[in-house]
Amino acid sequence: MKIMAFGLVHMIVFLMFSYTNTVAKEQNQQSKQTYIIHMDKANMPTSFNDHFQWYAASLKSVSDSADMLYTYNNVIHGFSTRLTAEEAESLGNQPGILDVLPEVRYELHTTRTPEFLGLDKNDEALYPTINEVSEVIIGVMDTGVWPELKSFDDTKLGPVPSGWKGECEVGKTFNSSSCNRKLIGARKFSKAYEAAYGAISEKTESNSPRDDDGHGTHTSTTAAGSAVAGANLLGYASGTARGMATNARVAVYKVCWSSGCFSSDIAAAIEMAIEDGVHVISMSIGGGVSPYSRDIVAIGAFKATAHGILVSCSAGNGGPTEQSLTNVAPWITTVGAGTLDRDFPVQVSLGNGKKYTGVSLYNGKELIDTLFPLVYAGNASNSVYGYLCMSDSLIPKKVAGKIVVCDRGLNSRVEKGVVVKDAGGIGMILANTDSYGEELVADAHLLPTAALGQTTADAVKAYISSDPKPTAIIGPADTKLGIQPSPVVAAFSSRGPNPLTPGILKPDLIAPGVNILAGWTGAVGPTGLSNDARHVTFNIISGTSMSCPHISGLAAFLKAAHQEWSPAAIKSALMTTAYTTYTNGETIEDVATGKPSTPFDIGAGHVNPLAALDPGLVYDATVDDYLGFLCAINYSSSDIKIITGRDFTCDKSYSLGDFNYPSFAVPLETASGKGGGAGVQNTVKYTRTLTNVGTPATYKVSVSSLDSSVKILVEPQSLTFSEQNEKKSYTVTFSASSKPSGTNSFALLKWSDGKHVVGSPVAISWT
Ligand SMILES: *[C@@H]1O[C@H](CO)[C@@H](O)[C@H](O)[C@H]1NC(C)=O
Ligand SMILES: *[C@@H]1O[C@H](CO)[C@@H](O)[C@H](O)[C@H]1NC(C)=O
Ligand SMILES: *[C@@H]1O[C@H](CO)[C@@H](O)[C@H](O)[C@H]1NC(C)=O
Repeated sequence: MKIMAFGLVHMIVFLMFSYTNTVAKEQNQQSKQTYIIHMDKANMPTSFNDHFQWYAASLKSVSDSADMLYTYNNVIHGFSTRLTAEEAESLGNQPGILDVLPEVRYELHTTRTPEFLGLDKNDEALYPTINEVSEVIIGVMDTGVWPELKSFDDTKLGPVPSGWKGECEVGKTFNSSSCNRKLIGARKFSKAYEAAYGAISEKTESNSPRDDDGHGTHTSTTAAGSAVAGANLLGYASGTARGMATNARVAVYKVCWSSGCFSSDIAAAIEMAIEDGVHVISMSIGGGVSPYSRDIVAIGAFKATAHGILVSCSAGNGGPTEQSLTNVAPWITTVGAGTLDRDFPVQVSLGNGKKYTGVSLYNGKELIDTLFPLVYAGNASNSVYGYLCMSDSLIPKKVAGKIVVCDRGLNSRVEKGVVVKDAGGIGMILANTDSYGEELVADAHLLPTAALGQTTADAVKAYISSDPKPTAIIGPADTKLGIQPSPVVAAFSSRGPNPLTPGILKPDLIAPGVNILAGWTGAVGPTGLSNDARHVTFNIISGTSMSCPHISGLAAFLKAAHQEWSPAAIKSALMTTAYTTYTNGETIEDVATGKPSTPFDIGAGHVNPLAALDPGLVYDATVDDYLGFLCAINYSSSDIKIITGRDFTCDKSYSLGDFNYPSFAVPLETASGKGGGAGVQNTVKYTRTLTNVGTPATYKVSVSSLDSSVKILVEPQSLTFSEQNEKKSYTVTFSASSKPSGTNSFALLKWSDGKHVVGSPVAISWT
């Protein structure tokens, strides 16, 4: 899985090193690999007394030496173990075995936020009370936690909720006193990791829930950190830092280690979180996209959802490439990233008198306050990738004493600074190229740095090419609030269309994920690099890893206010109240293109927590709806059993258009498709059901579309709800003529009673 942060990049580099060491180790073990074995629990042969005995006998029949790493009873029925490919195949052919799934390695893919989201407003009639919020528990699957931070202060909190059954697992670096009434549980899951890489050495990482990376501390304090006054990173972003659900409880499940996160460890953690009694699971991790029946996060999230737990996941950092989303199962809340209205500007002055603004979080003593020579890395290197300032790629003679312009991409932004510094450079200009547009991400660099957007970076490069002795000054950076427009969609935020099920719109929504301040580990400095000796209790990082825990915390907040709401109802409230325009009516901008964003970038829009507390109506869904969904996408009963643990026979009436989702994705046939030739109308009909969670009211529908060639007809046009929890259905007919493949058309469908607006994005695409 990918830990989805900027911190991620240094992690991947780290991964590559440890990977080469372990390849040899793995080969010694006759290329054994971890597999997750799905057993058909309901069909255990009568000759066995219990499931464990049956699992053990099945395993024994293919391997004398293999041990079970974990047994599972919630996420799936079955176990994980190390097998050779032949053993796995022969086990897969035995009766009673549903599937044998090879281990997948996942990777890891935050203090003005409460104000930015409007959570400082005194609209307290709507707010859940401290007591209500403190009954909600958020389980965070990540790199663990640094428990000594003030963000885990528990003085305002009462006793641990009575339903909590979890534990605080102790180790050499983690005491029972590391947990308290805020951090109520901490567990680690390393069996699969250790089976692949050998026993954990305390010399390199903590064999306990302690966080050596920072990512897990950042995500858990974003979701539910206690308020800490005077928080800042190296003087930047000063203010009170607090999580989204300041009084919710945190339980951490460490599943990510220095070489990644393993699916059988993740499955075990979800299994345990369900038993422990969490209400929300926050997972800022992701792998590739595979069918739901072969994706352990999708399977685990299904079981958690069936237990009433909302699962919030990062959408991925694969943007702005189309179809770069991960974690797309419809029972998961998939979160993309936008910016805040806060920035860290720094001025670059060139020898020709031109001045440009970039961003930086450098705060060291060395300053570049007079003109120094400027050089483009691509012209100071013998390596093809020199322009990216890859490790050891710069020629010291050509960069010594100079400011070096490095292009963004491939290695981490902070690592480029170290490469420049090691080669004798004194400063860095980090240049955005096409893929990043004007998106500026601030980092705590180890040398004076300015990150520039593509337009200004290109101007700097043109100046270097045209001037025989180019020079520049990099000023000190500052914290600036009130940046407009905000939010804008982060270039890195993964984009739709949904690569797995085009009939479901993803991401679901966006939340703040750029330059977020939250808690940090004491084990590494803010860059996460081994040569960064600085220690900070807060750090500013970016990624959909950061936007996901915002939604996890806000889901906890809604759960506190509406304890009876299902995970689907909470997600619907977050989505239908999200906003898609600024106060001036303009659509939220995509920083990668500078153009208005579409539902493929932002889903339902940017989260608006206060509105979500009182959505009026919700699109609810139960396990039966999800079963209908799986039928509609033609999954076999065996696949459905793997995902849901149920025997279910699909009847013929399931259609994806009838799945009760809060948004609409409408794939239509192109001219060459079986929909017919050019000019032929495509017509599809979707059904939705709304549940009234407010007072009696009559809602009227409106559809706004910029594309007159698409007809969207809603029937009926008005829905009257006379009591709470009443349900009413409507249909939407989309008709349009065939268009060239790759064409999209967007609209917004809104139900309003004059007080509430229940909005759903519509994305029509010709495929
Ligand atoms: C664990 O507790 C002991 C005794 O209170 C203390 O000396 C030690 O520093 C603690 N270790 C950690 C990692 O908190
Ligand atoms: C890099 O070197 C090439 C070849 O000498 C030159 O044309 C180009 O302008 C240089 N680019 C920059 C940004 O200095
Ligand atoms: C499922 O199968 C039906 C019948 O073959 C087909 O019409 C439909 O397009 C399929 N749906 C998906 C999502 O593949």
